[in-house]
Amino acid sequence: MTIAASTAASAAPHAGVLSVRPATPADDAFIDELQAISFGPGRFARTAFRIRERFPIDKSLSLVAEVDGVPCGSVWMTPISVGGSNGYLLGPLATHPNFRKRGAGKLLALEVSKRALARNEGKFVLLVGDQDYYCPLGWVPTVPGAIQFPGPVDPNRVLLLAEDPTLAKSLSGVIGAFRA
Ligand SMILES: CC(C)(COP(=O)(O)OP(=O)(O)OC[C@H]1O[C@@H](n2cnc3c(N)ncnc32)[C@H](O)[C@@H]1OP(=O)(O)O)[C@@H](O)C(=O)NCCC(=O)NCCS
Repeated sequence: MTIAASTAASAAPHAGVLSVRPATPADDAFIDELQAISFGPGRFARTAFRIRERFPIDKSLSLVAEVDGVPCGSVWMTPISVGGSNGYLLGPLATHPNFRKRGAGKLLALEVSKRALARNEGKFVLLVGDQDYYCPLGWVPTVPGAIQFPGPVDPNRVLLLAEDPTLAKSLSGVIGAFRA
């Protein structure tokens, strides 16, 4: 059964049990609508979208958050490389407006990163986002301009999560394909 974001929207905010699970094809309509609500029509012009056009998302790292079994949030991961080092680009991350401020966004960001890095195939999780949101979770700023995106990006929003604490200062180069 397909659950649209409007179904989530009709659910009144309430305290509930938060969980995360892999997305399935039945979530596609919910995720499409959630991203449209959260980012609007301008989402297709975003630099991160251009990367996802070039390099496919890893569907096994596409997660959905639920409150009491009702889908409320989503995150995607795109395997990439930077200057030849493999890692992941996190995003889009979105929580339905009726379910925000319950921890779903942070849970999704942390859980998808944990699952990706546990594969030991990529060293980092890169994203373009607000420092105030992501830095308390472990992301750190990169060297402005060091990581070359296929379009304009605010260098202060280019953040990295990695086990190696020096990587955010040393990673540089063009974003390319994940190298098998
Ligand atoms: C950003 C977003 C994913 C957060 O989802 P969420 O499920 O509400 O997140 P959480 O419940 O884990 O965290 C909420 C906390 O983060 C804060 N927060 C939300 N967005 C923030 C931002 N951009 N910068 C700083 N803090 C932010 C909230 O005020 C809240 O603070 P509180 O706990 O002190 O009340 C959600 O607001 C959203 O989908 N926004 C639109 C799309 C978007 O901007 N995505 C992120 C792209 S980088």
